Amino acid sequence: MTSEVAPVGTSRPPMTTFDPRIVVFACNWCSYAGADTAGVSRIQHQPHFRMIRVMCSGRIQPAFVFRAFEKGADGVLVSGCHFGDCHYIFGNERAVEQFAKTMNVVKLLGIEEGRLRLEWISAAEGGRFAEVINEFTDQVRALGRSPFAAEDAIDEIEVPEGGPCLNGEHGSSGTGSGSGSGTGAEGGH
Ligand code: FES
Repeated sequence: MTSEVAPVGTSRPPMTTFDPRIVVFACNWCSYAGADTAGVSRIQHQPHFRMIRVMCSGRIQPAFVFRAFEKGADGVLVSGCHFGDCHYIFGNERAVEQFAKTMNVVKLLGIEEGRLRLEWISAAEGGRFAEVINEFTDQVRALGRSPFAAEDAIDEIEVPEGGPCLNGEHGSSGTGSGSGSGTGAEGGH
């Protein structure tokens, strides 16, 4: 939704505000649970995001992020367990490597770096989840609509089947992809 906000008592042109479309890739064990904690604790945060649950942040390939931007995301947040807490041991270290590759391509494509972010959020950190969402939403809002968005269809983003971590080297307990939006992480499987 777009609205015009006219500054009072100034001659500046009206500032355009809008609700950015944020896609959050969250690992099942920490970040997704952190969102749930925020919801259960009734911690207020901005609601303009779609959450996609994966079993581990190590599962989040560059293609997932590019797909999200293509489907209309104005910003993409990748989140997982803190170091030492990953249920697949090295999954979040893998996520760091993948994130660096993704960021390089994002820059090559001319997408602002501020539209992509990596954060570690534990299951107990509902407050931190809310802070990150609020901060990131404001940051993306300031950047405006993504010029890379080809569609307005972030609800259609799906994560393909696969092991919890990239290459499946840590087992094959499947992908727990789901979605949630607004306050909390409802809608997951
Ligand atoms: S299980 Fe959360 S980052 Fe690996």
